[in-house]
Amino acid sequence: MNIILLGPPGAGKGTQAQRLVERHGMKQLSTGDMLRAAVKAGTTVGLKAKAVMEAGQLVSDEIVSALIGDELDAMPADQGAIFDGYPRTAPQAESLEAILASRGRSLDRVIELEVNEDALVERITGRYTCATCGKGYHDTFEKPAVEGTCDKCGGHEFKRRPDDNEETVRTRMAEYRAKTAPILPIYEAKGIVARVDGMADMDDVTAAIEAIIA
Ligand code: AP5
Repeated sequence: MNIILLGPPGAGKGTQAQRLVERHGMKQLSTGDMLRAAVKAGTTVGLKAKAVMEAGQLVSDEIVSALIGDELDAMPADQGAIFDGYPRTAPQAESLEAILASRGRSLDRVIELEVNEDALVERITGRYTCATCGKGYHDTFEKPAVEGTCDKCGGHEFKRRPDDNEETVRTRMAEYRAKTAPILPIYEAKGIVARVDGMADMDDVTAAIEAIIA
């Protein structure tokens, strides 16, 4: 099964994608994670993407679509894909269709996480991850069981994203409204959109998504 998780910054796409990976053996294809890895490694793509990401704007369609194609090529043909943060523009949506078709795949579901944008700033500015294994946490909503120790790997170092400040979050939301939300009708016309209340408890959101992909 190949699905898109769609929603504004902080909607819970990454949180839910990680859960689907753990429970269903699917692969998360997060263009945000791929770009952050490229920035960290100092690759040509990373050098082009760094300032754009820090400003909360969108990296070029060509760059992100090439990253997605490469990741799909590295996956077993029968493993399900969760597209997290891609596509984000109409040209990316077109590219995804061609990328999937050329690899004998098709899109099964687009799951839109519906959220109240006012709550998202709190979600994003409070989140952090384990610097060792990448597990996500939040100052208020998802703390480690033992303060300062990662539940998953026992690591003690945590980090925050440079684009998780309020000003940049507002720009990212404006980009979502202007360029990403308008691609939904493409998938509505195909009858593959399902909507989930992204403001619900995380476990309830997961259960709703699992019911859709069952
Ligand atoms: P990207 O990394 O994709 O960021 P984003 O879309 O802004 O999404 P986030 O990761 O911020 O949010 P999320 O929905 O995954 O929420 P999360 O699960 O973490 O992109 C970053 C940048 O890269 C872009 O701005 C752009 O520059 C570039 N980029 C990436 N892809 C691109 C593309 N395709 N084209 C062009 N440029 C691209 O949850 C947030 C917090 O809320 C967490 O702390 C979590 O614990 C908490 N939370 C989650 N769910 C719940 C819940 N139900 N209740 C309470 N708290 C919750």
